[in-house]
Amino acid sequence: MRRPPPERLVLLGHPVAHSRSPQMHNAALAAAGIRARYEALDVAPEDFDSIVAALAREGAAGNVTIPHKERMYAACATMSPIARRVGAVNTWWVAEDGTLSGDNTDVGGVNEAVRRLFDAKAIPPNLKVGLLGAGGAAAAVVAALESWPSATVRVHNRTASRAHALCERFGSFAQPADDARALADVDLLVNATSTGMRDDATPFDVSTLRSDARVFDLVYRREATPFVRAARARGLAAVDGLGMLVEQAALAFERWFGVAPDRATMRRAAESD
Ligand code: ATR
Repeated sequence: MRRPPPERLVLLGHPVAHSRSPQMHNAALAAAGIRARYEALDVAPEDFDSIVAALAREGAAGNVTIPHKERMYAACATMSPIARRVGAVNTWWVAEDGTLSGDNTDVGGVNEAVRRLFDAKAIPPNLKVGLLGAGGAAAAVVAALESWPSATVRVHNRTASRAHALCERFGSFAQPADDARALADVDLLVNATSTGMRDDATPFDVSTLRSDARVFDLVYRREATPFVRAARARGLAAVDGLGMLVEQAALAFERWFGVAPDRATMRRAAESD
């Protein structure tokens, strides 16, 4: 059950100064004629509980980003099955009884980005996927992939134990790979590490991939990421994190207001300075 639509939307993160979510959501709210405002709030870990309690009393809603997605999961009284599967909440609101409800729209964002990458209405069957990373973003990718028909994934991470722990939470379709070279033969390589966010490093040697492999980099920068540039230079189809960023935001908007936002407006706002 839901209260009246929220008037205050808040992104909780630490840091959050560079987030594109306020510009995306405020553009979509204006286009939809909704009077709510969306703001980013830098929340130090020690302040998380008191700030969330105050926002819940206010009837606010919002998103969560690094490093608070697991904390918000723990704070929610109810959540979607997919948020439970990921073990993290990125979208929250206050339920009728005043408790917090959560969802994870990153998973829907991953699905949309991969559909676009394959230029398909549905994810193709039997995909062999390589996944770099084992944090919250990687967990959203594995949770998305779990619903793809007969997909399998090999997970490589700098800290191998985290890749093992992530795979153990899912079925045998997810296997850890201590050696990154085990990922060379995949149909789709996904980067869910932060490599390339602020530097020019690439997380994988694209020259070792098959010539029909596709690349999905969850990282988004105004210019193409180093990994996407390297993949395209090799002639591979590649997308960065923009499509996922817009889709997770659009799905969050739908949770709060029960209507779809104008995704093209959100995309333009995300791309603007
Ligand atoms: P998120 O929620 O965005 O996934 P996270 O949980 O901090 O954030 O995970 C970041 C991921 O990027 C991890 O897989 C991390 O590897 P470790 O588990 O070894 O820390 C990975 N990562 C960050 N910097 C990296 C780097 N320079 N090289 C390789 N992997 C890196």
